[in-house]
Amino acid sequence: MTDKLLRLAIMISGRGSNMEAVIKSVDQGLLNVKLAVVISNNPEAKGIDVARKYKIPVYVFEIKDYKSKDEYEKAIVKLLYEYEAGLVALAGYMKIVGPVMLRAFKDRIINIHPSLLPAFKGLKAQKQAVDYGVRYSGCSVHFVNDTLDGGPVILQEAVPVDIDDTEETLSSKILKYEHILFSQAIKLYSENRLKIVNNKVKII
Ligand code: GAR
Repeated sequence: MTDKLLRLAIMISGRGSNMEAVIKSVDQGLLNVKLAVVISNNPEAKGIDVARKYKIPVYVFEIKDYKSKDEYEKAIVKLLYEYEAGLVALAGYMKIVGPVMLRAFKDRIINIHPSLLPAFKGLKAQKQAVDYGVRYSGCSVHFVNDTLDGGPVILQEAVPVDIDDTEETLSSKILKYEHILFSQAIKLYSENRLKIVNNKVKII
């Protein structure tokens, strides 16, 4: 039974609160996956200690230690294979995923982004939303492909933006929803309920 569980790898660059929310969902029995491994590209990431606290194997890969981005990603893919990862969840992983990882894990990498895509792609999505003056922003979980924040959308949640919101206040409002949405998307994936059809995600 156990060996049929989806083996999840989580990649982080920083705080790791989305990662922790996923870990808690698993601990509470809401999400039936095996947390196989956590990878950080940043040795200073706070999330590393969080993963250790939950006794999940954590590895750091720094791009500067490799000749090229391809070599960096080859090393990551090797580890992901060793841990038999079935899905890679990017939880605040702030690097663009390159062709090596995309090929090795085609349609098996998902990302959480703090905006209602396709609005406000890239960095500082919450600041972009505040600066633009939109009434709603939110968060999206999507499959990762070779277009930045442009892969098929799995789930989204809208969050109202107040006129007085700052980047910080909006970020924390959105984060609460991120913590729910990411586990929901992973759950759907783990239950084989996501099908990509014409670049859109059908939930079966
Ligand atoms: C989250 O808000 C996540 O959506 C965002 O970084 C934060 C990471 O927080 N990701 C991106 O902006 C990716 N483009 P966390 O480390 O506490 O999960």
